[in-house]
Amino acid sequence: MRVIAGWLMSRSGFIALGAALLVAAGLAVVGLVMAQPSILILAVCAGAAVLVATMMVLAATLLSVRAQLGALTRAGGGWTDATVQRVMQHLGDGPTGIEERVRRGVARDVSALLGLHQLVAVGAEVPPPSGWAATPQTLLAMVDAVRGLPDGAVIVECGSGTSSVWLGLAAAQQDRGITVVALEHEVAYAEQTRHALRANGLEATVEVRVAPLSPTVIDDQPYSWFAPEALDGLTGIALLFVDGPPGSTGEQARFPAFPLLRDRLSDGCLVILDDTNRRDERETLSRWMALDGRGRLRSGRELDRATSLIFELP
Ligand SMILES: C[S@@+](CC[C@H](N)C(=O)[O-])C[C@H]1O[C@@H](n2cnc3c(N)ncnc32)[C@H](O)[C@@H]1O
Repeated sequence: MRVIAGWLMSRSGFIALGAALLVAAGLAVVGLVMAQPSILILAVCAGAAVLVATMMVLAATLLSVRAQLGALTRAGGGWTDATVQRVMQHLGDGPTGIEERVRRGVARDVSALLGLHQLVAVGAEVPPPSGWAATPQTLLAMVDAVRGLPDGAVIVECGSGTSSVWLGLAAAQQDRGITVVALEHEVAYAEQTRHALRANGLEATVEVRVAPLSPTVIDDQPYSWFAPEALDGLTGIALLFVDGPPGSTGEQARFPAFPLLRDRLSDGCLVILDDTNRRDERETLSRWMALDGRGRLRSGRELDRATSLIFELP
């Protein structure tokens, strides 16, 4: 039926239908004029055939419209009016709309960048705080904290990059012997960070240690974390920034940082875990807070994408 209906809806089908209608009408006229019942019966049959064909065309048209509406609904993921309204609200310029949230995010970043540039003088190009790097607000919180660190304090960060440069600038400008050690598992990224440090004259302040990830077991759970040699000589850490290894290297990839570095932290050490907007890092955070042993972590500040904590000895 679909094939016949399809043909009837084509140009030749319409011509055939029109011709059949004309023939039926002609036969009816001839039958009436000649008072010939047989010709009239023929005319009625031709008319009925045209009627059936027209109904087939109508039915096929309705089916096709219904199929297209179905496809449109499926393409829209079965969206209802309420869903469409919510999406429009999300995209719109209201207080919860994307436009407003982007504006607030830009304002927060710009204001944090201005704060950073006010706290430290930047003489050369610094890598931009975007993408994988810590956000300006997190960098500002760390740079600000460096000012309150004791003379000769040691800063350690897991995962090098833009943060190494900002921490280095803040440490160097304090001119009180504060140094930074950045653990980096990727040789290429270590080189990239060293290049930015050289451009800013920070080679003596920041050491980038290439530390390949190696199998690490904590409480019978396997992890892939920086090789133990990378921790040689690290004691009295006053600021710990945990921003690596990347989540792609394994489940709770950053968990080992606290249990393995805890004995090397000084009382009151500021610990910042980045990316706590992600489920994995939030779980890491709760597990850290629940750990028993030398000293504990106390909740600190929520930054835009990170969480800061304070390490306290009993
Ligand atoms: C989150 S990044 C560390 C960023 C650094 N703390 C900062 O604020 O700039 C963690 C690790 O990811 C790797 N990495 C850095 N940038 C990357 C990129 N654009 N793509 C893939 N991996 C990257 C490096 O090995 C780095 O140590």
